[in-house]
Amino acid sequence: MTETLAVSDLWVDYRTKSAWASAVRGVNLSVGAGEVIGVVGESGSGKSSLALAIIKLLPANARARGKVDVLGKDIVGLPSKDAHLYRGAGMTMIFQEPMTSLNPVMRVSDQLSEAVVSRREHHKLEMFRSDSVSVPRGPDPRFSMGPERRAPPSKEAVEALRQVRISDPERTAAKYPHELSGGERQRVMIAMSFLLRPRLLVADEPTTALDVTTQAQVLSLLLKLSRDEGTSIIFVSHDILVVGQVAQRVAVMYAGEVVELGPTEAVLHNPLHPYTRGLIGSIPGGFKGEKRIEQIPGSPPDIMKLPSGCKFNPRCKFAMDRCRVEETALKEMEKDHFVACHLY
Ligand SMILES: Nc1ncnc2c1ncn2[C@@H]1O[C@H](COP(=O)(O)OP(=O)(O)OP(=O)(O)O)[C@@H](O)[C@H]1O
Ligand SMILES: [Mg+2]
Repeated sequence: MTETLAVSDLWVDYRTKSAWASAVRGVNLSVGAGEVIGVVGESGSGKSSLALAIIKLLPANARARGKVDVLGKDIVGLPSKDAHLYRGAGMTMIFQEPMTSLNPVMRVSDQLSEAVVSRREHHKLEMFRSDSVSVPRGPDPRFSMGPERRAPPSKEAVEALRQVRISDPERTAAKYPHELSGGERQRVMIAMSFLLRPRLLVADEPTTALDVTTQAQVLSLLLKLSRDEGTSIIFVSHDILVVGQVAQRVAVMYAGEVVELGPTEAVLHNPLHPYTRGLIGSIPGGFKGEKRIEQIPGSPPDIMKLPSGCKFNPRCKFAMDRCRVEETALKEMEKDHFVACHLY
């Protein structure tokens, strides 16, 4: 069976004034159909760079090396101008601030209707089954309307808003994004995902800006999407507890590398990497009342000045001579549970 996503030896580099610096360093990751995988790590660990490389939305000063196969097709080599053909029904993304993805001058209903059209086009083209990807796709004149034209919200759009538990879907559909709360905007983004039925959804800190109750509702909607539509989800968060609520597997990133990967239960209850233990320890009160482990001292390294050997060694209380010179690689310690650490 083809995996929804297979990332192999992926590097993401940014051009800075003086040189290239790597924010993602040799990441390997695969995601099966309907699987929810969490990516967790401190600020600057490369989570968003990985997410953007997967969805092919890296900024202009970045380059990706390696392979990102989405349903068996490598998108790293795909020209950026063709990338939109893979987004939509193939893959889609939701960000921390949904305003960046919503069109400010289009009513919610029109944006949702566009998602329906986009899905139909993708399914007609069978993007991920045929080899021809260079089909021109201009804006659909029916839906490229300015703010003054107003079509009644389609049944499908209203139904999608109902699905994400927006209380007055008809009224909300007639609004513009700026007239909605942050939580409502995020729900609209998820409603759009329900309409697109993508094979892969990349969610980068989708609940970070939301209050705890709204966060819980958005998380359960994402789970519903993966269950009902078989959508694979990459869920990015700095919060390992949030990730633990939704993901079946967790990848822990440090300085651009995956340092631990395994089933959520194993990673949270039997963390192997000193960094993962530190992340869990730095949750106030510790995980589920377990003995509180001290916080990780220091801060993550600047990608321009990475230490040699294990990138975590300057902050690790178990660091040995070997850790300062020899790079680490993932090793399987128990079934499907990998760690990159010289302690093992
Ligand atoms: N456009 C860019 N140009 C240069 N460096 C960048 C750019 N974007 C990100 N970086 C650098 O790449 C590294 C990884 O950043 P990234 O945004 O991927 O981390 P992150 O894990 O998503 O962090 P956060 O939790 O703060 O969102 C950081 O050192 C960051 O400064
Ligand atoms: Mg980020």
